[in-house]
Amino acid sequence: MDASTPTDLLADYAGAELLPILIAPHPGLKARCRPVRSEDTELVRGLIPRMFATMYKAPGIGLAAPQVGLPLRMVIVDLMPDERREPYVMINPEVVACSGERAPHEEGCLSLPNQYAQVVRPAVVKVRFTDETGGRREVQADGLLAACMQHEIDHLDGTLFVDHLSALKRNMILRRLAKEQKALKEQAR
Ligand code: NI
Repeated sequence: MDASTPTDLLADYAGAELLPILIAPHPGLKARCRPVRSEDTELVRGLIPRMFATMYKAPGIGLAAPQVGLPLRMVIVDLMPDERREPYVMINPEVVACSGERAPHEEGCLSLPNQYAQVVRPAVVKVRFTDETGGRREVQADGLLAACMQHEIDHLDGTLFVDHLSALKRNMILRRLAKEQKALKEQAR
């Protein structure tokens, strides 16, 4: 998901190389990602600062590994409440419970720049994952955090926020995105 970021959040990651973000309808965004395994430890360790640097720079509040071209079950989230960092590294995350109550949130996505829509999802979710230290964690999330975690975990199965909308709305957004991306490419020439 995207958001505005105060620039000082970037300071810690000044040395981390940014990763290119795939833009829809790139086929890499539709892939089902594989679980992170123990042999991926080095890869993941190197990836975490680069993903945070990329997300804070974008700026965004969530980023999934497939958005930077890696079909691995890993996402990062930071809502930056009150402009403070509250980062989550979620490896092999799973939604293990969700409320019957549903709530709408305005969503955007770094892979669909400038496109926004109301998405209705379970209001409260329990998510289980491995963190960056290898610890097993379980978080109960509500509000924007619940929406953001579900949005990012969706990416691991090739689902984008527009896939939760009607075909009419989805196609309208995808067409508008394609048009804007084409205009940007022509401008850059
Ligand atoms: Ni997204």
